[in-house]
Amino acid sequence: MTNKDLKNIIILGIESSCDDTSAAVVRDGYVLSNVMATQDVHKKYGGVVPELASRAHQQNIIPVVDDALKTAGISVESVSGVAFTRGPGLLGSLLVGTSFAKALALARDIPLIDVNHLQAHILAHFIFEKGKETEVPKFPFLCLLVSGGHTQLVIMHDYMKMEIIGQTIDDAAGEAFDKCAKVIGLPYPGGPLIDRLAADGDQNAFRFSKPRIPNFDYSFSGLKTSFLYFLRDEIKKNPDFILENKNNLAASLQKTIIDILMQKLILASEKTGIREIGIAGGVSANSGLRKALIGEAEKYGWKVHIPEFMLTTDNAAMIAINGYYKFLKGEFTDQSVAPDARWKF
Ligand code: KG4
Ligand code: ZN
Repeated sequence: MTNKDLKNIIILGIESSCDDTSAAVVRDGYVLSNVMATQDVHKKYGGVVPELASRAHQQNIIPVVDDALKTAGISVESVSGVAFTRGPGLLGSLLVGTSFAKALALARDIPLIDVNHLQAHILAHFIFEKGKETEVPKFPFLCLLVSGGHTQLVIMHDYMKMEIIGQTIDDAAGEAFDKCAKVIGLPYPGGPLIDRLAADGDQNAFRFSKPRIPNFDYSFSGLKTSFLYFLRDEIKKNPDFILENKNNLAASLQKTIIDILMQKLILASEKTGIREIGIAGGVSANSGLRKALIGEAEKYGWKVHIPEFMLTTDNAAMIAINGYYKFLKGEFTDQSVAPDARWKF
């Protein structure tokens, strides 16, 4: 049981699992601030460099928390609890947020709440918006979690009760976007750039292979190879092939990834009978995926939940909301807690 009668619960959330340092303040389920410092230092390396990420988190964390509290108009003395990402993620990066949260909880003598980053992406759907409080998903809620490191189909039975019914056996959907983007010369992270290029391309211009994986599981490594081999052959015939076909390549690749994602989501909905459907994680910002979800919703009678753009990629508001629901249940951790780079829920 969740004690929803508790009022004026102010949670400070800290996110530092990868390359974004973020802090947010949530009061009684409403976001008061959500501040982000993105690290541009990784761009020239074509991916996140863990050592550089943790160093940048150390530089960013205090100003970002300060900004989040000031923007929310909240003094540190009035914070009821501090929530942080314990994992999964990069160990060095997680360590910065974890250490900060532990120190703050100790200094202020307030509850310390450990949050699973993946659960938090899904729980972002349970952030209240004024006047739209009743629009949060009803349980059971079937959510497709698509990020840079994970692709999972999750049934949410209750706020903290989540069941993974399917997941990728190799690459994540975001990884497929990023790796294929790199092949056509786009900088990291390529997902958003593919999305933009795809808008002016023909999604049926090229065909790439789709996996045949049983149950609700996914696979994206075959697509990556098929994309690579296709380009290798075309470049042999025309060295300017990529340059001349960037939009069509992006659109066709995006369509293939979306088809793969939607096929299992539809199957999962059919098999479980759940029609309360959502998407979460960085790739849920993809305009094609958002459109596909709305299209299928009409066809299958789904009630769909699509997160606001700022709640799709890594952010601390989702950590704070997760902290809020754990606070209501009295689920706290203590000073012995350590980050867990592979933390499963
Ligand atoms: O959830 P997230 O911010 O970080 C992880 O927890 O991994 O997801 C990052 C991933 C990256 O792979 C990025 O390319 C992808 O989300 N992404 C997108 C879009 N925006 C972000 N992929 C496709 N289309 C987008 N618009
Ligand atoms: Zn994430």
